[in-house]
Amino acid sequence: AEAETEVETDVEIDAEVETLEEGVLQVCADVPYPPFEYYDTEGNVVGYDIDIAAAIAGALGLELELIESSWEGLESGLALESENCDLVISGMSITEERAGNMLFSDPYLDDNLGLLATTDSGISSTDDLDGVPVGVQNGTTGHTYAAEELGLDVTEYEDSGLLLQGLEAGQVEALIGNISIIGYQTGDDAAYEFVEEIDTGEQLGIAAHLENQELIEAVNEVLAALDAEGTLEEIREAWFHS
Ligand code: ARG
Repeated sequence: AEAETEVETDVEIDAEVETLEEGVLQVCADVPYPPFEYYDTEGNVVGYDIDIAAAIAGALGLELELIESSWEGLESGLALESENCDLVISGMSITEERAGNMLFSDPYLDDNLGLLATTDSGISSTDDLDGVPVGVQNGTTGHTYAAEELGLDVTEYEDSGLLLQGLEAGQVEALIGNISIIGYQTGDDAAYEFVEEIDTGEQLGIAAHLENQELIEAVNEVLAALDAEGTLEEIREAWFHS
């Protein structure tokens, strides 16, 4: 699928990044993860991350090429080793463990976890989850929190689309995931509801290969300039309406 964006920026950063193939910035993302990266009705990939990736590519004078990858490969750093990813942008939280496997940019968004439960399940907090089937996306911070902090026996899903379908289909009664996506999912849907925010103080970052310091520095320079220009704020408002 092609990345689709309407973002425009006047930011131009002149960075000599040797690793970039002829004028192309290859950015890997795990789709769907709305509103960060998901399919629009025409099958294009759109979202907050896509706009940011497009603005970065534009500022560096490069063409954005979006590569869809599995979350497992992205969060482990394997995709940065073996696939053609210059950057990973995927609503990915900066964690100590991941920072051992990849370089992170400066944070581009704050996030927390949250608990979503089927309506009328009687679940009102994470204290009510004993014996309840709880779903998570495999390898996410929500997974780690549910398994390690809460000691739950979780049902793992490959991607966030399947996770939500699992909740809708009644395979699980609750899910733990990031508030940024959960908030986006609930709306006026009556099948499930948002029950609790879990204050994990996560920060999202864009990642590059451990040896690609040059590229991450360029990304940080672009992010700072986009911030000063007001473009980051515009993109945030467009997708998170707040
Ligand atoms: N922020 C969470 C994490 O880093 C979840 C991100 C999942 N992203 C995705 N595109 N599926 O673990």
